[in-house]
Order: sequence, then structure tokens, then C-alpha cells
Amino acid sequence: MSLSDPIEQRFGTAGTVTGDAPFLRQMLTRRSIRAFRPDPVPEPLLTGLLAAGLSAPSKSDLQQVSVIRLTAPAARKALADLLPQFPWIADAPALLVFCGDGRRIRRLAGHRGHPFANEHLDSFTNAAVDAGIALATTLYAAESAGLGGCPISVIRNRVQEVSALLALPQHVFPLAGLCLGWPEETPPLRRRLPLSVTLHTDRYNDDGLLDAVENYDRARAAAEPVPEDKQHNRARWGTAALYGWSEHRTRQYAEPAREDWGRYVRSQGFDLS
Ligand SMILES: Cc1cc2nc3c(=O)[nH]c(=O)nc-3n(C[C@H](O)[C@H](O)[C@H](O)COP(=O)(O)O)c2cc1C
Repeated sequence: MSLSDPIEQRFGTAGTVTGDAPFLRQMLTRRSIRAFRPDPVPEPLLTGLLAAGLSAPSKSDLQQVSVIRLTAPAARKALADLLPQFPWIADAPALLVFCGDGRRIRRLAGHRGHPFANEHLDSFTNAAVDAGIALATTLYAAESAGLGGCPISVIRNRVQEVSALLALPQHVFPLAGLCLGWPEETPPLRRRLPLSVTLHTDRYNDDGLLDAVENYDRARAAAEPVPEDKQHNRARWGTAALYGWSEHRTRQYAEPAREDWGRYVRSQGFDLS
């Protein structure tokens, strides 16, 4: 079977796509998993997944990632207790935190007797991007082995406490957690914005955005209907007749969140200018 079917399910784009490959199919049909069987992830497998994740490309080969595995029950409970609105995190057989790590190269600069002449936003961005790519690569590796998982940036809602719990030193910050385990659910495939919106040719062009999102909202609302009482902040925004992706996400971002993140990152020693 070609890749046309999974691409159509994911993007709503009909048409022939040539080629097939099991790994591509798996990437196209992946979904976040938030319910796990209690079985552990075997140690050698987990090490292999992390080795695959840490084989991901890295900006200038600087390798600015550290992954913290939470194994001690007390540490896992302490992290889960910070996030009571997400009880499934406590149940995940494997719990990892992907950190951007700007400490290592700075230490080595001192060790080598060289100045570190890159205290600016690009330096922070490189560590954050490396950590994100390593997380995604680990997740894909896990999915290729039949596991499921979900990134958890909600740990940044309690970043001071998470940072203290993990004993993060200066120039190390938690980008996101990653829960992994054997799936106990098959949630619906989440459709993505059509490629006409996110894929541009030769130059940026968003002329068709509003029409495309209108169609996308209808498709998402049909595939994942949100009951009226679950519409975000109805007290402020009322009840929408069509509660699609754009209504949901713009309501979400009508409220500030994680306003202390920049302050935290600066307090970890990064210069964001
Ligand atoms: C960086 C990042 C952080 C995320 N943080 C959370 C989180 O804190 N809680 C959660 O339930 N899902 C989280 N997710 C999962 C997204 O909600 C999910 O990928 C998105 O809704 C699309 O669904 P899908 O992965 O099933 O296609 C995160 C994903 C990414 C990439």
C-alpha cells in the first residue's frame, strides 16, 4: 500500500504519493500516548532508544543535551506531584527529562583556557533545539519499537521546583519531559494543518490561510468533537457553534502562560539579548 492513505488521513490532502517505507508509514500514523500498560520498558531497550535519540544531529556538533531519567520512586513521585492535573505521568513506565545543556561547553572552554564569546540568544536557542530534536528522535525510536509516549512541556509550569528537584546547575534547563511505555490506548490520529499552509515553495505565502483553516477546523471538529461544556473558558468567550482547532488554540493563547520562563532562563545564566 502506498503512503497516500496515511497522508490523506493526516493532512486531508488527496493525491498519489509514490513510494512506501515502513518507517515513513509509522511516522505518518503516530500519535501521542498517555495511557500505558504497567509492564516496564526493558533496560537494554531504553538504553538503545536513548542512544538513538542522542544520535540525532546537533548544532555545530556541540551536543548540548542532557537527559535525566527518573528512576527513584521518591523522585518520580515528587515530579508527578508537581503536575497533579496529568495523573498519567505518574503511571508512565519510563520518565525522562530532556534538558538543554550549555554548561558542558562553557566548562570545557574554561578547561581549555579559551574565552566563551557566545553569550547571546543564539547560544540558548542551539541548546533548546538540540534537546528538542533529541527528544523527538527518542520518541520516534520508541514508536518504531512498539512503544508509545508523550512529550510533557507542562513541567515548565513548575520550572523552579523541577529545576531544584533535578539539581540542574547553571546553563542547564528542562526543555520537556518524555513519558514512554507500552500503549494502552489508540487515540484518534490528530490531523495536521494541510500542507498548503505549512509547506511553502520558494517564498513564504499565507494567502490561503483563513480558508484552509476553516476547512481544517471543520475536519477536526468532526473527528474530535469537543462537548460544549469542554470549550475553553466559556465564561469569557461564550459557546462556539463550530469549536475547531483555531478557536480552541486562540482561546488557550488569550491567557498568558509561563510568563516566568524568560526570567528562569536568565537566572540559569543565559544572556538572551
Ligand atoms: C514540545 C512538546 C511539548 C508537549 N507537552 C505536552 C504536555 O505537557 N502535555 C500533553 O498532554 N501533551 C504534550 N505534548 C503533546 C502534544 O499535545 C501533541 O503532540 C499534539 O496534541 C498533537 O497530537 P499527536 O502527537 O497525537 O499527533 C507536547 C508535545 C511537544 C512536541
